[in-house]
Amino acid sequence: MFTAIDLPTDDKPRFYAELAAQARALLAGETDRIANAANFAALAYQALPRINWAGFYFYDGRELVLGPFQGKPACVRIALDRGVCGAAARQRQTQVVADVNAFSGHIACDAASRSEIVVPLVHQDELIGVWDVDSPEPGRFDDDDRQGMQALCAVFMASLA
Ligand code: SME
Repeated sequence: MFTAIDLPTDDKPRFYAELAAQARALLAGETDRIANAANFAALAYQALPRINWAGFYFYDGRELVLGPFQGKPACVRIALDRGVCGAAARQRQTQVVADVNAFSGHIACDAASRSEIVVPLVHQDELIGVWDVDSPEPGRFDDDDRQGMQALCAVFMASLA
């Protein structure tokens, strides 16, 4: 059984460093993408404070398709020219959106979402998908979250190798 250790929430760099260490331990020895994505989403959803959705969209060569996640049911397919997820995938750059209502083209899966961070998942120049986290709190994610979330996603990507 995996037991998550309480993480510090007043020090984001330390929080993400410890969360990444927990993720590494959780995914160790397994390379199955669905299994690792499911456990990764569950761990992040339990650990991250003030969020209402955390999960994956995987690129099928044409569009983003919903993968393992925690939170309310979400839209299944997202074209690359749509939403925050599409922007992250297209630009291959993490999107930090402080106010989703001000983001033109934002796709509202859960009406409670107010801010969002989406990290593109790229392996050897190939788009694998995106990691998406939503919060009911405006401006929930800052640059520490961007760096921490990218480092966390690197743990997931390394597990697939
Ligand atoms: N808000 C996202 C869609 C996915 S849901 O938030 C889970 C977007 O605009 O791409």
